[in-house]
Amino acid sequence: MATGPERGVATLRARVAIRPCDLARDFVQVVRIYRANDWTHAHDPPRLRTAIERSDLAIVAVQGEEVIGFARAMSDGAFAVYIADILVLPDHQRQGVGRRLLQALLDHYPLDTFHHQVLVAERGAEGFYRRHGMVPVSTYGLTAFIRARGR
Ligand SMILES: CC(C)(COP(=O)(O)OP(=O)(O)OC[C@H]1O[C@@H](n2cnc3c(N)ncnc32)[C@H](O)[C@@H]1OP(=O)(O)O)[C@@H](O)C(=O)NCCC(=O)NCCS
Repeated sequence: MATGPERGVATLRARVAIRPCDLARDFVQVVRIYRANDWTHAHDPPRLRTAIERSDLAIVAVQGEEVIGFARAMSDGAFAVYIADILVLPDHQRQGVGRRLLQALLDHYPLDTFHHQVLVAERGAEGFYRRHGMVPVSTYGLTAFIRARGR
């Protein structure tokens, strides 16, 4: 029988489920997660809803009836996937929920088929992605370019 940290991980797996986001059922709680993390997306819920509807894949982490995490990705379904957002309710962070959401997205777009999985890391989140095998594009001698509003 597992003890210590192993038992903690097993308990988390048992009580947190990852499933596709059902907007009719989950949207209000998803907005709550954006709001709780102070993301501007929460200021314009209709636009956020459009963004989620048009994403290739949107998933939630649920504990009982509560949605505690959300993630979405955009993809051409062949070569490229862009991990758009991963968010966990602050009270549930650092408990392995983000890891499970990210892993579910990465597994959905496997590198034996897809050429690359990319994302733009928020300030402070770099360590999270590094822990999951993601590296700065410069590692491959590449440069990523961005135009962004308000930065
Ligand atoms: C970033 C975020 C999604 C991580 O989710 P989480 O559930 O807190 O992370 P987990 O508990 O699954 O962490 C998995 C591993 O990453 C590490 N980790 C988590 N957040 C980290 C951070 N900000 N910096 C460094 N390491 C981090 C954990 O310590 C853990 O390490 P371990 O494998 O050694 O145990 C979550 O903190 C969050 O919602 N942040 C606010 C929104 C945000 O910035 N999202 C990222 C958008 S780019």
